[in-house]
Amino acid sequence: MIEIADPAQMRAWSRRERAAGRRIGFVPTMGYLHEGHLHLVDRARARADVVVLSAFVNPLQFGPGEDFERYPRDAARDRALAKGSAVDCFFAPPLETMYPAAPAIRFAPGPLVAHLCGPRRPGHFEGVLLVVAKLFHLVEPDVAVFGRKDAQQAILVTRMTAELDFPVTIDVAPIVREPDGLAKSSRNVYLQPAERRAAAVLSDALEGAHLAFDRGAREAAALTQKVRDTVAGQPLVTLEYVEAVDPRSLQPVVAASADTILALAARVGPARLIDNVVLGQGLSADVRLPADSVAPA
Ligand code: PAF
Repeated sequence: MIEIADPAQMRAWSRRERAAGRRIGFVPTMGYLHEGHLHLVDRARARADVVVLSAFVNPLQFGPGEDFERYPRDAARDRALAKGSAVDCFFAPPLETMYPAAPAIRFAPGPLVAHLCGPRRPGHFEGVLLVVAKLFHLVEPDVAVFGRKDAQQAILVTRMTAELDFPVTIDVAPIVREPDGLAKSSRNVYLQPAERRAAAVLSDALEGAHLAFDRGAREAAALTQKVRDTVAGQPLVTLEYVEAVDPRSLQPVVAASADTILALAARVGPARLIDNVVLGQGLSADVRLPADSVAPA
């Protein structure tokens, strides 16, 4: 595995690989890698000849009072995990090389951020799209893999690349879940043991709504209320929102259908967690880690 910090060297490496006839797969991350990221690497490997993983905590996607400063960082651990996986190139650019000056240009994601995390994290998706566009220009991947846990992000990136003619295919990977259903997230590290146990209510609530959908429930208001009721039974978890949205427009639906995304965000102790389910699929479409799985050290 080669390690690159300099953006210009990153682009040069990618261009050499492409000139040699190799397809480039890309997994952008903010580091603090977990099984979810390693699963994205495996998907990239299956779709390309070489895999680049970037680890960069992007300040532009954190709002005032959010967790930019305390976001977990462990570069040595990330390097070791990447090395033990199918990563060929580990790209960890220092902040000042990505943003030598405060950027003036912003992407305006428009109506796709009118719901879900958009209004709750003003500026977040503008920052995500800006850094993803920069990373795409530096890595020049053929295929880039994003996790469906961040469903709104994955949909926005897919639309940005399509509408702005980026020559990259976006692959959206299933959510990787802990044995009790909790979606893998770097932010799970913030949870105390009792909070960690309580957090499983989020995936339980989504699966409950999926089962209700399976039994014929279609009214979005009833499905979201079911999630609210389930989460309300767990005092350590405070629901921020739950919404049933159309996967193309990300606008709320009145009547749910098989492709409706039921998405939520919740506070559990110091962590803000997100999760979602495609109502026609349920959690069985996701990757469930086995009960005896050992988290990467
Ligand atoms: O999903 C993430 O980890 C980040 O939002 C991303 C896509 C790496 C951009 O910083």
